[in-house]
Amino acid sequence: MRLGLDADEVLTTTRSVRKRLDLERPVEREVIEECLDIALQAPTGSNTQGWQWVFVTDPEKKKVIADFYGANYDMYTNRPDQPQYGDDDPRTTQRPKIMDSSRYLREIFHQVPVMMIPCIQGQGRLDSGVPTFGQASAWGSILPAVWSFMLALRERGLGSAWTTLHLPNEKEVADLLGIPFDTVTQAGLFPIAYTKGTDFKLAKRLPGSDLSHWDQW
Ligand SMILES: Cc1cc2nc3c(=O)[nH]c(=O)nc-3n(C[C@H](O)[C@H](O)[C@H](O)COP(=O)(O)O)c2cc1C
Repeated sequence: MRLGLDADEVLTTTRSVRKRLDLERPVEREVIEECLDIALQAPTGSNTQGWQWVFVTDPEKKKVIADFYGANYDMYTNRPDQPQYGDDDPRTTQRPKIMDSSRYLREIFHQVPVMMIPCIQGQGRLDSGVPTFGQASAWGSILPAVWSFMLALRERGLGSAWTTLHLPNEKEVADLLGIPFDTVTQAGLFPIAYTKGTDFKLAKRLPGSDLSHWDQW
């Protein structure tokens, strides 16, 4: 199924989908392969194409990963140093809704039809003092493709949510899935499901004019 959204609609309405993930409807492997083919058109530093994509459908493996995610989620969301913004700031007004939604994902993560873990392959891990040039080149060679994947899902009536909270247990998840931990870095954890309904709206963001610098910071 294709929704026929134009490029700007896809770019502005690809939200983090949590409560509207359809946990009952199976996701065909073909639709994932189609989205991956689109994602692989993203830029890749020096044309290295060092990306690897792990899809998890095994219920026991999904449960182990979701349990790591859940434990880290609880720790992260209970930490005392939460960033504070003004009362009218969209990040403040949206927080209760996002917290409610993210708590829901934390509870049902093991039930999503498919989990995706995008990985970037290199000569070593990215958490071992790699200078900015190397970090930016490596992350820049996986994250645009991940976003393209999410946009391709959206156009096909599926959704996802960017998450990173399994990563404190990246090693355990690497061992579980056979990912070579010494040379491959995981970039996140993405639930994949059809969405309940396909109508998604623009988010309220800080205005670009407040965030731009021309010729001088
Ligand atoms: C780097 C990164 C990490 C994120 N980690 C999580 C996460 O662990 N769990 C979660 O529910 N959402 C996570 N999010 C989603 C954000 O909460 C979400 O993008 C933000 O609230 C704005 O909502 P929107 O994506 O619907 O516009 C993450 C997003 C990014 C970019």
